[in-house]
Amino acid sequence: MSRCDFLSLPERIGLRLREHYDLRGYRPYKMSKFEPYDLYAQNRSFVSGGNILTFTDTNGRLMALKPDVTLSIIKNYRGGEVKVCYHESVFRDTGSLGEFREISQIGVERLGTIDRGAETEMLSLARESLDLIGGDSILAVASATYVIGLLSFTGADSATEELLVRYLRERNAAGMQKLCRAAAVPEAAAEVWTALADLYGPAEQVLPRLAKLSRNAAMTDAVQELARVLDGADSVRIDFSIVTDLSYYHGIVFKGYLAGIHTAVLSGGRYDHLLRKFGKQAGAIGFAVYLDRLDEIRPAPEDGCVRIALPKGRLGEAVYERFARAGYACPEIREKNRKLIFENSAAGVSFFWVKPSDVASYVERGAADLGVCGSDILAEYGPDVFELADLGLGRCRMCVAAKEDFRDDPARPLRVATKFPNTARGYYSNLSREIDIIRLTGSIELAPIVGLSDVIVDIVETGSTLRANGLRPYETVSEISARLVANKAAYQFKHPRIRAVAEAITGGGTL
Ligand code: PRP
Repeated sequence: MSRCDFLSLPERIGLRLREHYDLRGYRPYKMSKFEPYDLYAQNRSFVSGGNILTFTDTNGRLMALKPDVTLSIIKNYRGGEVKVCYHESVFRDTGSLGEFREISQIGVERLGTIDRGAETEMLSLARESLDLIGGDSILAVASATYVIGLLSFTGADSATEELLVRYLRERNAAGMQKLCRAAAVPEAAAEVWTALADLYGPAEQVLPRLAKLSRNAAMTDAVQELARVLDGADSVRIDFSIVTDLSYYHGIVFKGYLAGIHTAVLSGGRYDHLLRKFGKQAGAIGFAVYLDRLDEIRPAPEDGCVRIALPKGRLGEAVYERFARAGYACPEIREKNRKLIFENSAAGVSFFWVKPSDVASYVERGAADLGVCGSDILAEYGPDVFELADLGLGRCRMCVAAKEDFRDDPARPLRVATKFPNTARGYYSNLSREIDIIRLTGSIELAPIVGLSDVIVDIVETGSTLRANGLRPYETVSEISARLVANKAAYQFKHPRIRAVAEAITGGGTL
């Protein structure tokens, strides 16, 4: 038995990486578990998750359990050339349920003069880190400068800019097209945004396309810079969906994926802009490896199929027909038996039925590579998935509905019954209307009839359920349709197959 056998995989990898970073000249950086809350409050959007655990110390100062290490390194940076490595626990809220977790991170940061050599070195270090962990891996790379250049060419207001970058992260070309029309984004810019949402592949394929799509000197320079940094880099994919907060990052950004893990295990980039916020004139680049995620590694199913989660019910039937017509039929699915997974190995797909509201969770966590669910579910839960296409099926509306004689009384909070509390909260907060949410799981229409609520926020398709219960729709919150969603890591490892399925069921048009 080797002396390390009693260690868990994240602990073993943590040691291996520390040793490697030390050999590369990165000196250990140790920070305290707590920092004054101010540091994070002022840079909230840099802190993943956004929520921070706080307490008051014995001197009455508001302190935080550290959610991040980079900010502390920047705060303590006194100039000169610095290369540090850390291995720390951070405390973050990790999901839609808002629960906090202790997360073990190991990372490196380089501050000072960041020239091309430094960027290349950091990218190699990220590549070596993935190799040291082992297994199949992909390093996805993008240029934040290119996106910043495109934003300046676009000339949109800040709300539109935020949405454009969000849709880029979601690979949501359909959403982008709609937004560009609504916000009157010039055609020449809209074209680039839509193309960028779709772009993915090795540098030699993608760089020439990026060059063609450049619309100003900043974009052209960014492509040349990216080409120089990626020259000779191994197993790299260019992927603009990884671009994060542009007020902090610029230059190169990257994420590392390992086969068998549903989300990125490594994340980093160049963040000179963040340093500037601290009044420090220097360059900075670094990355972190999320060690806890390594516990999740599962061998991929041997069949190599693209796994697709379908929503049970009427919508699912229509969606399955779409797959069948596109050459992905699976006749077994119609048989009355107790099987849960249906395979067409010749076509390389397998299907399973899940509750419509669960589709996004299956896809987000990588139990399914693809799934189809209503845009209502995506808006409510905000899963971290790609939204590859609007299938135009299952069209309906999210509405505010109430009894025929309903009159809103602005003197008191509006009682809203719903299965979609986040959607309802978002809608009324935009109207600055105070509400009291009553969360229900079904038969919502009953709530105003028996006096449980004033209104409901719910789905209206034909309107017959409302009519049958003496209710009527008052306002439309959003239009809903079925979306094709993909797991972000699966998109990396099964890219050609996922694209082929997606293109076949959309006729290649809406992607
Ligand atoms: C949805 C929704 C409405 C109904 C609207 O319920 O909550 O009750 O459909 O459709 P209509 O406008 O065509 O009448 P669903 O059938 O999904 O059942 P649920 O209440 O169990 O969620």
